[in-house]
Amino acid sequence: MNPTLSVIENRRTVRNYSANPLTEAEKEAIVHAAMRAPTAGNLMLYTILEIEDQTLKDQLAVSCDHQPFIAKAPYLLLFAADYQRQYDYYKYCNVEALCQERGISPRPPQEGEMFLACCDALIAAQNAVIAAESMGIGSCYIGDILENYEFHRDLLKLPPYVLPITLVCFGRPAVEKTEKRLVPRYDRQFVVYKDAYHSLSGAEFNEMMRPAAEHNLPDLPLQDAVKTLGERVYFRKFVSDFSTEMTRSCREILKNWQQ
Ligand SMILES: Cc1cc2nc3c(=O)[nH]c(=O)nc-3n(C[C@H](O)[C@H](O)[C@H](O)COP(=O)(O)O)c2cc1C
Repeated sequence: MNPTLSVIENRRTVRNYSANPLTEAEKEAIVHAAMRAPTAGNLMLYTILEIEDQTLKDQLAVSCDHQPFIAKAPYLLLFAADYQRQYDYYKYCNVEALCQERGISPRPPQEGEMFLACCDALIAAQNAVIAAESMGIGSCYIGDILENYEFHRDLLKLPPYVLPITLVCFGRPAVEKTEKRLVPRYDRQFVVYKDAYHSLSGAEFNEMMRPAAEHNLPDLPLQDAVKTLGERVYFRKFVSDFSTEMTRSCREILKNWQQ
């Protein structure tokens, strides 16, 4: 395995950080790696906010579904999908006048640009995560930044076409890596198909979930254990309070972008 594959293979999410801060050179390397990520049309449709103010960190730890470790992250980056900068640039270039000349109606950023900007921001974030990992710095994505959109918008002064798509905590692991195993993934056969999508059968779900079922509920027959695990995730994640808030907040993001 080459060194890059080895970094990818051995990465795991780190939520417990040593107080030892990152050096300026390490921070710079992480941000630089993010900015070297592929980007649609080479437009870099994202903004990275370095969250340094402890009060902001404390507020985010609460607003992102009460995850106190966010406040303790030595380095915290918000990746925002950003079409505002590009749109402002178009305006600066007075494209509206050219549109009039050509008989075209000018338009604001729309849903297509929103999805593309989200792709850009997330790809940049993952480059940052891998770069950090290669330097022995752990990380954790915070998906709950999708909640409480209005609060985050006001807190971080985000203009209309900038949406917070992910937050990433970085820090040196407080506990030696060898003490924790990697989190297993579904087997490849349930995730990778050739040429067309494949919907799974009951038997395939049983097979897919077998390792988790045997690990978590060893005394139950396989099918019962698989069903119980599905019920647990459904109630903990899918119909939980945080998912209700996430949907409400994302609808606000969409409304805001579509105005
Ligand atoms: C989009 C996304 C959102 C996530 N949000 C959170 C989060 O809010 N809090 C958290 O502790 N972990 C979060 N994680 C980390 C996942 O829980 C973690 O990646 C998963 O359990 C697999 O573990 P591993 O990364 O160690 O392989 C998130 C990961 C992703 C990709």
